[in-house]
Amino acid sequence: MINRKTIKIALTKGRIEKCAVDIFHKSGIDCSDLMNKGRKLIFHNDKFNIDFVLVKAPDVLTYVEHGVVDMGIVGKDTLLEQNRNFYEVLDLKFGKCKFAVAGPKNSNFYEGYNRKKIATKYPNVARNYFRKIGQDVEIIKIEGSVELAPILGLADAIVDIVETGNTLKENGLVVYEDICSISARLVVNIASMKMKKKEIEEIVDLLQTEMKLGELVLE
Ligand code: PRP
Repeated sequence: MINRKTIKIALTKGRIEKCAVDIFHKSGIDCSDLMNKGRKLIFHNDKFNIDFVLVKAPDVLTYVEHGVVDMGIVGKDTLLEQNRNFYEVLDLKFGKCKFAVAGPKNSNFYEGYNRKKIATKYPNVARNYFRKIGQDVEIIKIEGSVELAPILGLADAIVDIVETGNTLKENGLVVYEDICSISARLVVNIASMKMKKKEIEEIVDLLQTEMKLGELVLE
């Protein structure tokens, strides 16, 4: 490691964590420690002078925006929900899913004049969507297992992430409308992009090369 500025990278814990670790590892940035991590939250790669930190999705952009980490990997869902300043530099093409409006089968969600209630973990995404289609709704913020809300009668429908569709199906709900596609994104702090340009570009290049190789293997 000669004259290389430290780069701190926040990885989202959970669903997209494994793919994020895999893509760095395959790019030539050794992440073996992250693959057998236990409860540890910070990992150092000496060759590239990178610190990887594992954080919850809603916190990734907080760390990136404040500049305590230089880069992050986080789902487009979080980027759309949070009004933050950052550069979105790469669509990593994993963690693919979609935002959708969903609710009970055989319900008449689009009928009637009553103001519908929408439960969601993503109030801004839901508000923006219904504003765009010109439907006045009441948004109710829920922290998880949003599918319960229409079942228990708290809401008429939900706005949530759908990946396999199993959670909806197993709870008797169906998609009413797709909102948009989601995948994991690489984001960069605005100041870091200038101050650590060389190091950041090198990492972005390695990831891009690995993505191209991955596509070739799939063809
Ligand atoms: C997400 C989402 C759905 C589920 C969709 O929840 O909120 O509940 O995954 O995935 P599927 O279409 O593959 O079934 P998550 O597992 O993140 O947990 P949470 O509901 O506790 O937030």
